[in-house]
Amino acid sequence: MTYPTFPPSTTSYLSKYLTKELFEALKDKKTVNGFTLDMAIKSGVENLDSSIGVYAGDEESYELFAPLFDKIIEDYHGFGANKRHKSDRDIHNKSYKELDSKGEYILSTRVRVGRNLAGFPLGTIISKEQRYELEQRVVDVLKELKGELEGEYYPLMGMSRETQNRLINDHFLFKEGDRFLESAGLNRDWAEGRGIFHNYNKTFLVWVNEEDQLRIISMQKGGNLKEVFERLVTALDAIEQKLSFSYSERLGYISSCPTNLGTAMRASVHIKLPKLANNIDKFNSIIKKYHLQIRGVDGEHTQSKGAVFDISNRRRLGVTEVEALDDIYSGVEALIEAERVS
Ligand code: ADP
Ligand code: ARG
Repeated sequence: MTYPTFPPSTTSYLSKYLTKELFEALKDKKTVNGFTLDMAIKSGVENLDSSIGVYAGDEESYELFAPLFDKIIEDYHGFGANKRHKSDRDIHNKSYKELDSKGEYILSTRVRVGRNLAGFPLGTIISKEQRYELEQRVVDVLKELKGELEGEYYPLMGMSRETQNRLINDHFLFKEGDRFLESAGLNRDWAEGRGIFHNYNKTFLVWVNEEDQLRIISMQKGGNLKEVFERLVTALDAIEQKLSFSYSERLGYISSCPTNLGTAMRASVHIKLPKLANNIDKFNSIIKKYHLQIRGVDGEHTQSKGAVFDISNRRRLGVTEVEALDDIYSGVEALIEAERVS
């Protein structure tokens, strides 16, 4: 393996932080699961338009390749190497109000967390057999869920193209063929061991073996962030009794991509903001102030349509779940106010 060079137009964190010295110091290291620097940087080397460019193979990757990962983590999350992540998902004394009681701006609200199982390597290097074993373990637990969370598991293998497309278009299911994931090894053996669990009214969903082994999702129409988050916490409380997740005292929940460490939580609204869409400076200043991120309406790496944006918390590590929720709550409140007076 030789030191990769990047064209000057490359802006990924990988290209910014992978110096020759760092590369030489890390290039022969290997985690117990066999994950190497070469594997960690492959996605960013092959996809020059990456914003980050690295993935992990297991919890140990974040320690062994810390000289690279820590710089990226600090830059993205503002989380220094001497910090420790803290979790808090208790919102019982929060007075979150309905953000858009007349239903003028917010179409839907979604909160997801990424989770990976303790004792397994991450999806980048998991074997086919381990992926199937993991799927079975997860499905056994999900099938036991009761009440509002009760539902069924639909494996991707054997799912008709029509059903798959409908679930994708309705924003319930992950897409296929993401080239960043492909380079990282996360699409190996597609669609084996992958699938989606959802309750009967599709307000609680679990993606199995996509970028992370689990993406646990609560979503519904409208802007009731409190209700969406509370459903997610109820589900997490139940699932955590049966499954143990990969968690580090320093970095919180371990994820394939360093952007998802910590809370691994992305709370988002689909929101219609036609006036702010034409006042980009004002729009961006609110986004920056509240640590938010804009995505397109079909998810990451897509464009907004009809002035509908996916607005979510950008920070996931070094803030608690409640603090990340405060970012989105206050940020969306400010966006709606700005739209109203524009
Ligand atoms: P993730 O949220 O898991 O990081 P994506 O950004 O790709 O990944 O989004 C996954 C799917 O969730 C996409 O179909 C996206 O449109 C949908 N989605 C995200 N936020 C919302 C929301 N607030 N309402 C409805 N669908 C949403
Ligand atoms: N690897 C991609 C990039 O660097 C995505 C990074 C963040 N998103 C994610 N889904 N992990 O642009």
